[in-house]
Amino acid sequence: MKTANQDIKPITTRINDNGNIEIGGCDLIELANKYATPLYVFDEETIRSMTKSYKDAFKSYPNMRMMFASKAFMTKSICKIMAQEGFGLDLCSGGEIYTAYSAGFDMSKTLFNGNNKSYEELELAVKLGIETISCDNFFELALLNNVAMANDKQVNILLRITPGIECHTHEYIQTGHLDSKFGFDLTQIDEAIEIIKDEYKNLKLIGLHAHIGSQIFEKQVYFDEVEVIFKEIKRIKDKFGINLNTVNLGGGLGIKYTEKDKPISVYEIAETIINSIKINTEKYGIEKPIVYIEPGRSIIGTAGVTLYTAGSSKQVPNGRRYQAVDGGMSDNPRPSLYQAEYTVEIANKPNETETELVTISGKHCESGDILAKDVLLPVIEEGDVICFYDTGAYGYSMSTNYNRVLKPAAVLVNNGKSDIIINRQTYEQLCESDVIPDRLNG
Ligand code: LLP
Repeated sequence: MKTANQDIKPITTRINDNGNIEIGGCDLIELANKYATPLYVFDEETIRSMTKSYKDAFKSYPNMRMMFASKAFMTKSICKIMAQEGFGLDLCSGGEIYTAYSAGFDMSKTLFNGNNKSYEELELAVKLGIETISCDNFFELALLNNVAMANDKQVNILLRITPGIECHTHEYIQTGHLDSKFGFDLTQIDEAIEIIKDEYKNLKLIGLHAHIGSQIFEKQVYFDEVEVIFKEIKRIKDKFGINLNTVNLGGGLGIKYTEKDKPISVYEIAETIINSIKINTEKYGIEKPIVYIEPGRSIIGTAGVTLYTAGSSKQVPNGRRYQAVDGGMSDNPRPSLYQAEYTVEIANKPNETETELVTISGKHCESGDILAKDVLLPVIEEGDVICFYDTGAYGYSMSTNYNRVLKPAAVLVNNGKSDIIINRQTYEQLCESDVIPDRLNG
């Protein structure tokens, strides 16, 4: 069965009677007029369709736990939706922990990941009752044990390992290969277990964690990941007599940014994982563990679009035509960071013929601030609203204030209603952390 990550557009996208693109029953031009641009628009139905697909696809494995990878896009409203959908949260910083907590999220359904968690972050996690912490390295084991001791707590931990699986995605978003900054090498696991057993009495090792990468289109890597982890569980059981009953497989399922992308469905990935669990529990004679997955992009990526207003343009004599918009690498750094490509449409001209090859540039003082290179679009005029699809994941969450450009607003649309979920930043907020020491005022 097809799932929403396999489509470029949010599931509610259509052309309405005004001849404009509509998402979640809301006319994108009306949204641009009401909330101004750049604007992030999130379609609630697409988000919930993805969470429901995950639950449905994995329903034959009752020990499954779904954790939304908050790093993809996190606001308090998203925490509420995830809670309603029965998802937990994968958190990776003090800021994400604090956001979940202040949204009233049940902290016993959260995990804490990351390769350099600080004492303060670990303490916040322990005090707020995070369910499990995935330990990334020897330094962190010692640090966390100190935190746990100081707070008189016993903490459940997973060991994050690098399973040595390479997937075909951008180098910067591959994580499971051996030469990676994340996790314990397979050859370091035993040493970690020895120390936990002998010295770190406040840590309780319950399982293993791996994350092989992001924007993954292949299923075989998930089959292999399960195999590598289960083999380790068996080895650890034989060598140390420890029964690890928890496995975290990370996230990674890809989405369709352009027609070139061919992501697989949630059902295909679920079938592969469940099948591999069955085969490898039998092969290694181990119990079926509790299995966590942490999808981020596939839950929220397709649901989000960004709207910009067309401003100045430039025709290079005998060269490219550049069309500038009112945002750029500050609200979406992915094109400049990863050469990411997007599907683009003009929200007020969805039916017009695409006659012009144009490069959409941002407004930042940097030549690399290009949002989409050489896309075929109808003739763009000043004031047109340009819609970038699939910006829901790692767009707003990686936004910056480069050039002191304000962070955009985000709205959630559903059934003809639009609600602000992030206010547009103001100039006052932009400056509120700035301090002028007295001696500079004199
Ligand atoms: N779990 C762990 C431990 C992770 O590191 C990540 C993503 C996820 C889960 C979620 O992966 P997803 O399902 O979203 O693929 N900024 C990059 C993506 C970085 C992904 C980092 N880790 C981008 O814009 O493509």
